Amino acid sequence: MADQVITDQELDEAGLRLEIDGEIARVTLARPERRNAMTGRTWSALASIGQNLPESVRIVVLAGDGASFSSGIDLTMFEPGGPEGESSPLASGKVPDPAELDATIAGYQEGFRWLRRPDLVSIAAVHGHAIGAGFQLALSCDLRILADNAQLCMKEPALGLVPDLTGTKPLVDLVGPNRALELCLTARRIPATEARELGLAELVVGGDELEGAVSDLAAAVLTTPAEAARATKELLLQAPDNSLAEQAAAERRAQIGRLTDLARQQSA
Ligand code: CAA
Repeated sequence: MADQVITDQELDEAGLRLEIDGEIARVTLARPERRNAMTGRTWSALASIGQNLPESVRIVVLAGDGASFSSGIDLTMFEPGGPEGESSPLASGKVPDPAELDATIAGYQEGFRWLRRPDLVSIAAVHGHAIGAGFQLALSCDLRILADNAQLCMKEPALGLVPDLTGTKPLVDLVGPNRALELCLTARRIPATEARELGLAELVVGGDELEGAVSDLAAAVLTTPAEAARATKELLLQAPDNSLAEQAAAERRAQIGRLTDLARQQSA
């Protein structure tokens, strides 16, 4: 099934594994010898997975092999040679062409953005380190379950950069701008218990309970009918940007859609 979505070679070069079982897709960061560091290829492959998932998939689980969820961007992306087999537009010494770099980063961001699609619920299963792009990948998921050894860190500003892989919005939405500023500008490692208190994790469990906790959450989400889950996610995602009146109107529209569908199903 996975090779209908993306080829095994693309997955291998991207340092990813993909398993699809009915309604659940599991994407695993699979370069444990590099602590699941990610390159441009990883993000292109993630985008490709998002574009080609079968319609049956309702849950996407992101997890990492080995000691860490992800150590973030592969630091060889900043070296003149780039990562093995891949050139990097981020290599130091090159003055970037703004339009070219904008398009490149937009392409990388596609690897993260699809995880918020209303037809899916994405769950990050985080153990060990989630640093920089790894933290942003966890943030781009709808829900985060952390092992008690997890540590989150927004390292980009400490490297002279900004977080640019879609992580700043969910971070601010979850913890507010002041705490987000403190976390980003100190680049400190946030332990799992604090992450839970800050709302960065739905649940913290022992390391050997992580897989079971993710399966239980996925199973619980799947008890809700697909169309109701989709309409509810759509509604919740627009709530922060809507006034009360706008959100109330959106609720009415969504409910009319639901009741119409249910009535049609009953009369068919
Ligand atoms: N890129 C490339 N290689 C990496 C890597 C990375 N991000 N992280 C780890 N590795 C490599 C190490 O170099 C090491 O290689 P060797 O075995 O050849 O020496 C191997 O993976 C294992 O790493 P450690 O021995 O360091 O493992 P550890 O368990 O002691 O520590 C860690 C794990 C805390 C994640 C540590 O490896 C680390 O701090 N890595 C760098 C993290 C980092 O700065 N990432 C960039 C963040 S910024 C970002 O992601 C986005 C952006 O746009 C800038």
